Amino acid sequence: MAAANEMPPQALVMQALFGFMVTRCLSAVAALGVPDALNDGPLYYTDLAQATGTDQKALHRVMRMLSGVGIFAEPEPGRYALTPASQLLRSDVPGSMRDMAVMITSASHWLPWGRMEDVLRTGVSGPQHEFGTDVFTWFQQDANHDQWVIFNAAMTSFSSGVSHAVADAFDVSRFTRLVDIGGGHGYLLKTMLEKAPRATGTLFDLPGVVDADDAKRLGPRIQRVGGSFFTEVPAGGDCYTLKHIIHDWSDEQCVAILLNVARAMQPTGTVLIIELVMPEDGGPHPAKFMDVNMLAMTEGGCERTARQYAELLQKAGLRLVKIHPTPSPVSIVEATRA
Ligand SMILES: C[S@@+](CC[C@H](N)C(=O)[O-])C[C@H]1O[C@@H](n2cnc3c(N)ncnc32)[C@H](O)[C@@H]1O
Repeated sequence: MAAANEMPPQALVMQALFGFMVTRCLSAVAALGVPDALNDGPLYYTDLAQATGTDQKALHRVMRMLSGVGIFAEPEPGRYALTPASQLLRSDVPGSMRDMAVMITSASHWLPWGRMEDVLRTGVSGPQHEFGTDVFTWFQQDANHDQWVIFNAAMTSFSSGVSHAVADAFDVSRFTRLVDIGGGHGYLLKTMLEKAPRATGTLFDLPGVVDADDAKRLGPRIQRVGGSFFTEVPAGGDCYTLKHIIHDWSDEQCVAILLNVARAMQPTGTVLIIELVMPEDGGPHPAKFMDVNMLAMTEGGCERTARQYAELLQKAGLRLVKIHPTPSPVSIVEATRA
């Protein structure tokens, strides 16, 4: 797509309005395994349709559009190939974004996002309007188990993209017990432990998440603990990581979580909050998108500026030490006891 400042105003508005078509189609082709089917090289759309169990003409039209915006390539009419972007939509590559692509238009997000006018009028989240409850409570309901599975896979997929950047940007080798709060399926913790040879790890999340059959995959250095971070978190760690946790909650709720961390950690322990840090200027930044996702999807969650992190940490008896940028869009907010 063209850069905004190079486009006539009408084209800019049209491109923005058509953005949802890109999202929806990208999500659908990822779910149907189209990028995987192109793994061995370009395919004519008829063969691609056969390989993916899709309708030939429908697939051709969708792939033509997605190639036009650079997600796929069309080296000759009707023949489609992967690009560096669609390589990431394969299910079997390191850093795969396939599950994230599937999740972003699944019912848990698509339906609440459909309530954006209500969100704007009231400031109340989309899940409250659509489901009558917050999204994490909705995920815990039996009828929504499949959505919970999709969400957790997406978090791992998202995590795989940034966890290595995080582990490279902050030296964790001195720590002996890492605790990942709301750590999902443990991708970050596993990655961090590779850089902290003397450490063991504790993966803490809601019981439904950590009780899933991960024990073998996580290996013997990781202990799984189920519970709510609003009640208490595992004690005795010297490094607590919270990746994409703080942005899910209001200031009051974040202070409650961070107070529990401050209480549980060793006196000289370190807290690493891993988030997109909102810049104070008016330029483009992924934090501005994620922030609106938090507006739509959570009860008071948002992306925060460095100053807001400092204030939040202070209320929980912690002190911001430094913000470490990483090669990915996320930063590491390092804190310790005040
Ligand atoms: C946005 S996800 C982030 C997951 C993981 N840290 C990552 O970056 O991939 C939020 C996580 O918080 C967990 N969570 C939500 N409420 C929780 C609670 N009350 N106590 C513990 N974990 C909770 C969810 O299960 C989910 O794994």
